Amino acid sequence: MHHIFSDCNMNHMTIKKILKMGNLALLQKASPINNFNTKALKNIIVDLLDSMHAHKGIGLSAPQIGISKRIIAFGVKDNPRYPHIEEIEEGILINPTYGSIDSKMDYALERCLSLPGLRGRVKRYTNIKIEGYDLHGNIISMKSDNFFARIIQHEIDHLDGILFPMRIENLQDFGYDEEITTRFTD
Ligand code: NI
Repeated sequence: MHHIFSDCNMNHMTIKKILKMGNLALLQKASPINNFNTKALKNIIVDLLDSMHAHKGIGLSAPQIGISKRIIAFGVKDNPRYPHIEEIEEGILINPTYGSIDSKMDYALERCLSLPGLRGRVKRYTNIKIEGYDLHGNIISMKSDNFFARIIQHEIDHLDGILFPMRIENLQDFGYDEEITTRFTD
């Protein structure tokens, strides 16, 4: 007979429920990772990536799966929710930060798995420099622009308890997918 807590050697894989706006956990400042290369950290990363794939996201933050840690995931490949955007190699960043390279900003409609069915027009930096760590604690440094830069800024906002509607300058630019997409071309 199998014991419910049997220590079988199954691969860890969990698709987590995505918390939705209104949940207080999404409004907290997440805490940094101090110990790298641990089993616990690996498990969070696997859960985050599995959950992002299952929900067809192009970015996901640990707080959205109920883990108040500074970890984000991203990646775009053949995504039916985003058929017309450039591919972005899948990755994760731990304790990520960004800074603007210049003062250029632009607007685009954003979505979020924590607000299904809604979109809003948000202003973000166009060109940013990103820093963070990988699972092993190696520093990762890169530059990004346009859509990728937007994803990173959106995901890092989640780590500080900020959801995209909080960044909308005019709430008239917020609404349901099928209504609002007809109003903006970007
Ligand atoms: Ni989001």
